[in-house]
Amino acid sequence: MREYRVNEQGHLVFGGCDTVELAREYGTPLYAVDEGYIVERCREIRNTFTDKYLNTRAAFASKALQTLDVIRIVTREGMYLDTVSGGEIYAALKAGTDPSKILFHGNNKTEGEILYAVRNNIGRFVVDNEYELDMLEKACSELGRVQKIQLRITPGVDSHTHSKINTGRLDSKFGISLEPENRDRIIRKAMKSEHLDLMGFHFHVGSQLQSNEDHLMALEILLDLVREVRGNLGLEVKELNLGGGFGVRYVDGEEDTRVSDFTEPMMDAIRAFCVEEKMAMPVIYIEPGRWVVANAGITLYTVGSIKEIPGMKTYVAVDGGMPDNPRYILYEAEYEAVVANKAGLPADKTVSIVGKCCESGDIVVEQTNLTGKVESGDVLCVFTTGAYNYTMASNYNRLPRPAMVLLREGEHRLSVRRETWEDLVAREL
Ligand code: LLP
Repeated sequence: MREYRVNEQGHLVFGGCDTVELAREYGTPLYAVDEGYIVERCREIRNTFTDKYLNTRAAFASKALQTLDVIRIVTREGMYLDTVSGGEIYAALKAGTDPSKILFHGNNKTEGEILYAVRNNIGRFVVDNEYELDMLEKACSELGRVQKIQLRITPGVDSHTHSKINTGRLDSKFGISLEPENRDRIIRKAMKSEHLDLMGFHFHVGSQLQSNEDHLMALEILLDLVREVRGNLGLEVKELNLGGGFGVRYVDGEEDTRVSDFTEPMMDAIRAFCVEEKMAMPVIYIEPGRWVVANAGITLYTVGSIKEIPGMKTYVAVDGGMPDNPRYILYEAEYEAVVANKAGLPADKTVSIVGKCCESGDIVVEQTNLTGKVESGDVLCVFTTGAYNYTMASNYNRLPRPAMVLLREGEHRLSVRRETWEDLVAREL
């Protein structure tokens, strides 16, 4: 979470706006996203990475928070866009993204998605496996196109994060394994194709990483690969993509990392490698998602029932839950929260914040401190919900997805309207 401000009414202020007024005006549950903060984060990436080093690109991993507005904000700030499905590409194009700045990821792209992406001149395919390579080659030859690609490798690094978001280890569904016979066959095939232009390699070690160790280990493996394929296969490597995963601060005790904590040592290592190998510096990509948006977002709820179990626990129930934020039930994620209309009061009571679904795992914050004055009707704010909340939301128990409001220095506007009950049955025949 970020430091927050409390106004004279004792209300939490976020993005320059009184959050209690936002809840009143737009209803709850409500995602509130601070555009100013997203812009700041993009600028920090520019200052410390893309403007600092020649031939570098930062792609926003839009799975973290994809709305048309957010795509427009980050691309306006100079970011490329990482997408993982036909749907994400569709939205990116609809938001007006330059297709040459879109990267297309995914471990099981369908033929339809591949054709759609090639037809729309998507800048890079990050090819995950041989099956995809073959399908892409066929699609490009039928359409008479040449597609630039990066090959995703599995670096075999067991990253220090939750097992469900650890993506780079050997036993992973992502990327080609580096066993020499396997990797050389796939690389040769890509090099031989008239319709594929193999620019280089990609890795992504995992998400919410608090230190750069795993990235550096993966980079070492990647550079070994570059050395070998240059020597053995004569491949000139023009691009390296180092993925995302930079951690943010959700709760006290966690670190809000700097992108430069990761990029600086990696850039140093790549430069040194290129000097030693007498090769031109490749174009370097990074793909942060969470780091750009997690702390740009909060969720506002209304407190409903409060259940005290004497000597044991207090449950504070809110009007949302796992459908708008499934991260507790998936990863036992932790969050900080505050009663927005009593934000100036000391947090002197330990509670469990729970949702309204028929499921005991429907927890928003398993344990946190709120003011003991919390009561039904209060507005509750959960911090750091900008990443992987809106994009992972569901309609479990037929709860409509919340609205999203965009904030900028005290101004606010509706960005995504609230779903209605009618929306919930609209596709049912
Ligand atoms: N690049 C690739 C290829 C990825 O798979 C991901 C995330 C990223 C970049 C961006 O990672 P980030 O910078 O956001 O850590 N739903 C989970 C996170 C899943 C991450 C999936 N891949 C969560 O809520 O924690």
